[in-house]
Amino acid sequence: MRATVHLDTQHHVGTIDRRIFGGLLEHLGRAVYGGVYDPGNPLSDDRGFRRDVLEALRPLGFSVMRYPGGNFVSAYDWADGIGPKETRPRRPDFAWKSVETNQFGTDEFLAWCAELRTAPMLAVNIGTGTPEHAARLLEYCNLPTGTSWADRRAANGHPEPYGVKLWCLGNEMDGPWQAGHVPAEVYARQARMASALMKGLDPTIETVACGSSGRGMGTYLEWDRAVLEACWDTVDYISAHRYSGNWHGDSASYLAEGVEIDRILEDYAGLLAYVRGVKKSAKRVHLSFDEWNVWYRARGDHGNWTEAPSLLEEVYNLEDALVCAQYLMAFLRRADLVKVACLAQIVNVIAPVLTRPDGVLLQTIYWPFLMISQQAKGISLRPVVHSPTYATKQYGDVPVLDAAATLDGDTLAVFLVNRGQREGMTVEIDVAGGAFAEIHGTDLLIGDLKDADTLEAPDAVQPAAGTAAVIDGRLHVPVPAAGFAAVRVRMTG
Ligand code: AHR
Repeated sequence: MRATVHLDTQHHVGTIDRRIFGGLLEHLGRAVYGGVYDPGNPLSDDRGFRRDVLEALRPLGFSVMRYPGGNFVSAYDWADGIGPKETRPRRPDFAWKSVETNQFGTDEFLAWCAELRTAPMLAVNIGTGTPEHAARLLEYCNLPTGTSWADRRAANGHPEPYGVKLWCLGNEMDGPWQAGHVPAEVYARQARMASALMKGLDPTIETVACGSSGRGMGTYLEWDRAVLEACWDTVDYISAHRYSGNWHGDSASYLAEGVEIDRILEDYAGLLAYVRGVKKSAKRVHLSFDEWNVWYRARGDHGNWTEAPSLLEEVYNLEDALVCAQYLMAFLRRADLVKVACLAQIVNVIAPVLTRPDGVLLQTIYWPFLMISQQAKGISLRPVVHSPTYATKQYGDVPVLDAAATLDGDTLAVFLVNRGQREGMTVEIDVAGGAFAEIHGTDLLIGDLKDADTLEAPDAVQPAAGTAAVIDGRLHVPVPAAGFAAVRVRMTG
């Protein structure tokens, strides 16, 4: 099978915002306790941070880390998680029906972010919390000493402001499951007030309003429109979330997930243009796709009022990894729209990294994130793809090839997913405005669709070296069936 990708160095969608390589760390299951934080474990440092987890996460190059939720944030009192650990209260966690010990809180998270070398993205509680409560957290984190909450930060060991730049105004407030769920207009009023109060204290911050928690919601886009119309002047981003799954054992449709992700991005591009037009505004609001992943096996879990229960511990296979690749490739193709995105989540809970007391396991979805995060840089080129199609139950006829490309100086990176399950394909790539000078490398992620990295077989799915060649001025990249390829090439003008 053969497909072509035509690129033009002048035809791009803008500079890639590194913040699309973000993650989410939520107080949920074993994500925090027994995940990133495990005091007393010989693998942890003197603050209780698991060193092996940090080492596993660092290569992923997370640019931002969203925290503390997720659903958890909507009934969380951040003040419970600061100060001397022995006086912090144990609380029931409304979202996951677990016991929250509050031994890890805002200061620990911000210290951990510094250790990981990532920027924090803090979510405030707009469920049971008030705008004032949110502004106090901003004061605690970002204001110089001299006022009560900033002084509390200093007393807790951090005299210098943290300078947290990115703030989520709640989480999935359109969802009936969310603590404090209210109609869009009510949420919008609270979010607007919180954003204005917070920006009044620190005008350098950016805020994210809650958009829809999924395309399947009855209020999809209507919720977002109402929120945007009310908050346009004070927010910088609207959020989108999606979790994918092979719910019906239909891999052909599942491997076409990129089609659905593209549609969501198209929906938001249209909505943002509409509201901007209605407002006759010069301002642009962008998309923060701050929860995305595969999640369909471990659904409906809750903690039965225990500490750090094992929840949402999905075991991922190759087809899940191919879907994750398509999320990132869709975000690259809409670099003009998607400025922030967070893989949800990072450790143990629907995560690329699983922990045991004595080590970590890297799951299949680790690899596409690693390959794309390390290689996608600079500007995002607009690919013109000519590909055979295949029939799917869910999306009709779909191109077998999914493609994205970036250009950073003279380095071109091309990402290719062969969605076909039967045949390998050769992708022929040409670039107007440049010639291929040297192939730096080709990485492949291939195997059987159901192959998983497990404790018994930790290396079942691993990146492998592929081949690529320049023939008659075109780059030829063989991509095996159900495979992902990332190729890097030096270009000359
Ligand atoms: O990531 C798991 C959960 O999914 C989050 O807590 C919530 O925001 C979403 O529904």
